[in-house]
Amino acid sequence: MCLRPEPKKWEEKEEEEEEKEEERRLCIGLRPSLPLPQNTMATLKEKLITPIASGDAAPNSKVTIVGTGQVGMAAAISILGKGLCDELALVDVVEDRLKGEMMDLQHGSVFLHTHKIVADKDYAVTANSKIVILTAGVRQQEGESRLNLVQRNVNVFKFIVPQVVKYSPNCTILVVSNPVDILTYVTWKLSGLPKNRVIGSGCNLDTARFRYLLSERLGIHPSSCHGWILGEHGDSSVAVWSGINVAGVCLQQLNPAMGSDKDPENWKEVHKQVVDSAYEVIKLKGYTNWAIGLSCADLCETMLKNLHRIHSVSTLVKGMYGIENDVFLSLPSVLSASGLTSVINQKLKDDEVAQLRKSADTLWNTQKDIKDL
Ligand SMILES: NC(=O)c1ccc[n+]([C@@H]2O[C@H](COP(=O)([O-])OP(=O)(O)OC[C@H]3O[C@@H](n4cnc5c(N)ncnc54)[C@H](O)[C@@H]3O)[C@@H](O)[C@H]2O)c1
Repeated sequence: MCLRPEPKKWEEKEEEEEEKEEERRLCIGLRPSLPLPQNTMATLKEKLITPIASGDAAPNSKVTIVGTGQVGMAAAISILGKGLCDELALVDVVEDRLKGEMMDLQHGSVFLHTHKIVADKDYAVTANSKIVILTAGVRQQEGESRLNLVQRNVNVFKFIVPQVVKYSPNCTILVVSNPVDILTYVTWKLSGLPKNRVIGSGCNLDTARFRYLLSERLGIHPSSCHGWILGEHGDSSVAVWSGINVAGVCLQQLNPAMGSDKDPENWKEVHKQVVDSAYEVIKLKGYTNWAIGLSCADLCETMLKNLHRIHSVSTLVKGMYGIENDVFLSLPSVLSASGLTSVINQKLKDDEVAQLRKSADTLWNTQKDIKDL
């Protein structure tokens, strides 16, 4: 019996060589299509690292932000600061600024917990996103109503939304651009995604502002001041006075006139301040960004961590509170990894329902005239 190994066949040798090449590529981080450097000396990286397997798995918690203006970048830094995603992709049409923003964030990587920060105007860079945040478009000018922005931003969205869905067909889209409720409807129409996967940031910010202003008056942290702003993110939003509470104590029971014109303490002013907030900040600094950026991160956290927390975000409300048209308005909604999975049925007073319906009519009157959806 011969124990000597049989001489290797030519094909086997070739296979072995190919495997070695593949290992080298893996080690020095070269894609399979790229030729190996001619120099056969091992590189520093090859000497340092012994490859075990490819690390090119698809991302688990990728977030894309379309529009890297003030709001987009505030959302980016808020999401990165909380370490919510393993990959962040940025898209914009202004290439130099986009690259600059990407590089600036990448240079902070040592302080962050996100493996990859990428940017391109080509939507291929957004592939496999779990959440895509739309902040692109033109912003409100001083004194301009959100509804005035509609058709300009619809035209921008007609290009963006099909690209997003092409590369991330299973994502949840979070719309932030204004007028947010109408653009959420537009995104839902353009995307073909189910309604649970298209969400408007809606009154999440208004509710945060409301809770902050309550907290200022009461001297209690906003997270312990509970209250809801519903309806349109904008001038016709609805404050649910009957639901405001601190530690379960209903404030309207302590002051039955709360929220009405007869209230000597004029709590109604707090809601007025919420409505005026954006106008005031825009007047002072030209745009709003930090609070909306933080609010986007908060929504992403709930969805990426599957927390089932409740947020006042914009959803399709047809069939609720007697609303008959395809409009998106904010209601307290449960968010999870599946997007927006349910809505809490708040016991609203007749005048609050009437206000919601009025918001729905206002939005529908603008929406019905949008061209080419
Ligand atoms: N929902 C909210 O609570 C809320 C709060 C604040 C601002 N906003 C809205 O967010 C939007 C962005 O505001 P901003 O201050 O960041 O404006 P911005 O002008 O600073 O940024 C907009 C960005 O969108 C980009 N853009 C334009 N067209 C694009 C396209 N086709 N594809 C990709 N990118 C494109 C621009 O280049 C720019 O970088 C506005 O509509 C604003 O009204 C919403």
